[in-house]
Amino acid sequence: MPAPVEKRIIELRKIISENDYKYYVLAQPEITDEEYDSLYKELEKFENSNPHLITPDSPTQRVGKDLTKEFATVKHRFPMLSLANTYEESELLDFDRRVRDGLPAGEDVEYVVEFKIDGVSINLNYLKGKLNTATTRGDGTEGDDVTVNIRTIRSVPLELKNVKNAGQDLSDIEVRGEIYMEMGDFSELNSERAERGEKLFANPRNSAAGTIKMQDPRIVASRPLKIFVYYLLNSKDTSATHNENLLLLKELGFRVNEHHRLCRNINEVLQVCGEYEKMRDSLPYEIDGAVIKVNSLSQQKRLGTIAKSPRWAVAYKFRAKQATTKLNGITWQVGRTGAITPVAELEPVFLAGSTISRATLHNYDEIQRKDIRIDDYVVIEKGGDVIPKVVSVDVSRRKKNSAPTLPPSLCPSCNSTLFKPENEVAYYCENAMCPEQIKGRLSHFAARGAMDIEGLGDALIDLFVDLGYLKSYDDIFELKAKRDELVRIERLGEKSINNLIGSIEECKKQPFNKVLFAIGIRYVGAGVAKKLASHFLSIDALISATEEEVSSVYEIGPSISRSVKQFFSDEHNLKLIKSLKAHGLNFVEEKQVFQENYFLNKTFVLTGTLSKYSRDEATEKILALGGKVSSSVSKKTFAVIAGEEAGSKLEKAKNLGVKVLTEDELINLLKGQQ
Ligand code: IVH
Repeated sequence: MPAPVEKRIIELRKIISENDYKYYVLAQPEITDEEYDSLYKELEKFENSNPHLITPDSPTQRVGKDLTKEFATVKHRFPMLSLANTYEESELLDFDRRVRDGLPAGEDVEYVVEFKIDGVSINLNYLKGKLNTATTRGDGTEGDDVTVNIRTIRSVPLELKNVKNAGQDLSDIEVRGEIYMEMGDFSELNSERAERGEKLFANPRNSAAGTIKMQDPRIVASRPLKIFVYYLLNSKDTSATHNENLLLLKELGFRVNEHHRLCRNINEVLQVCGEYEKMRDSLPYEIDGAVIKVNSLSQQKRLGTIAKSPRWAVAYKFRAKQATTKLNGITWQVGRTGAITPVAELEPVFLAGSTISRATLHNYDEIQRKDIRIDDYVVIEKGGDVIPKVVSVDVSRRKKNSAPTLPPSLCPSCNSTLFKPENEVAYYCENAMCPEQIKGRLSHFAARGAMDIEGLGDALIDLFVDLGYLKSYDDIFELKAKRDELVRIERLGEKSINNLIGSIEECKKQPFNKVLFAIGIRYVGAGVAKKLASHFLSIDALISATEEEVSSVYEIGPSISRSVKQFFSDEHNLKLIKSLKAHGLNFVEEKQVFQENYFLNKTFVLTGTLSKYSRDEATEKILALGGKVSSSVSKKTFAVIAGEEAGSKLEKAKNLGVKVLTEDELINLLKGQQ
């Protein structure tokens, strides 16, 4: 028999959880805030005097006190897929056709249509009815364990309700949903931040994403985050349909969006999508489309997934939202490559959840084509993640004496004469010592996906370039020697300089592929750098490779290989690399240790259409076993994997006597290595 105190604690937890549910999930509170507070205080009092009775599922334990240094990376038990996008009704009809083609002829297919909530996806694992972990999507295969932060969100149940009535084994389930912030809450948060002089969030989604990655759960708890859940994965048992799962999730105490509709066919789906689009502007939160899912879970299973998206679901994205505002001016920005891009300076206007005062104008050709002039009223558009853009001009509101916009002639940063290559749209500043270019290059070098130098942000780079401390990448590593001077610079101080010097030392640990990305070779993005690094294994091998050798790497095209060769034919760049080497940066790929297997050190070429894997997936699997993938067949090729409608590469393989494998043979070989 529990002692009376324990009994009361259990009772209080139950009452509080039930009222949390009524308030945060159902939005139908039954008691006043004062009554709630007094129950909460009573529970806290009993728990404080009986700490051994505190359990993690107590409502008082939602907010932890410890800071999270780094979130642990965890592999998802079931990959977190993304959805293919459609924009037109015809694409939805194609989706329906593909679904029915993937199932036995004559089988009926029902769909469920839901809102596509514009937030951050989350995976919740409940073990024996209690919240166990909450993980972000990450790259779909593994994400961050953000449980401490998600627990603070009151609409996330710590314990499931009505498990016994569910009629299925729910002892180990995953629930997927979206963490989001309402637009009103977002504006309020941003105005508080503005008052405190803090950086503003760009939109509600970024603000939700930023919040769930915060180190202090107490701050997370103070932010108005909410959840809608939309998918249940039960490895032990199953319902028959997705619609039943949505109802079940509601019974279990989750917040499920009230707008979901069961449709008997694709025509009904189209109609519901239209209805949902009309509702968009009257909702307190942002949706960027509708999600259409096959209702039968057995059909979902049989349809399976392709690449990173399920075949049984699709997103229907709504048209981008537009607004009209005045163009106050055009700023010409100098990028790190010297390319000059025009930016529209706008009269601030609220659009799709945030205030917009700048938008991209792409390039001068676009300005000319749309005849965009200063003081014009322009239509701007924001679609999905993209930066807002100017789409057209309302000519009827044009001022009488306005003049067409002229192309830039001098660099706005260094005043040098600009140059326009014949086959390009951009104008270029060709002065490699142009301060804006230098700043752009350094900012790219220090950025997160590159050398990741914490503390070396744009403001500090601007200052150091203006004061003459930084001109090129290697100057960063000389800052250490100038420590005494730097600490005397106003606003900086000893502590921040010490931290900066620490993170500069730390960045020397970045692997070769990040260094290769950081040095800013044109067209060599993070993905290309990874491919080049794992193929050539060292900068020396890359420098001495021919253009053909570079372009034979899988997915490396001629413009990349030309640009790589051009970069390394410049004496300055070779000198720079020598200097960075001397500073201890990694220019050699750390050898991965692979177990002896069929694929190790062999070069494969993929050709034709693969049906079970995407090319990227097949490539990834071969690389993961230490094999190589090339895009051209030569005598060095070990085998060609020929999918459907393979053409000239297959021919060449046959002529050279290179082994040819089918996709199924590849799959069997891969299976044999696991
Ligand atoms: S279902 C395999 N349903 O959209 C099915 N997703 O690109 C996975 N999202 O990552 C998702 N509302 O973050 C689903 N009602 C909804 C959704 C939804 C928003 C997000 C989710 C997902 C992305 C798909």
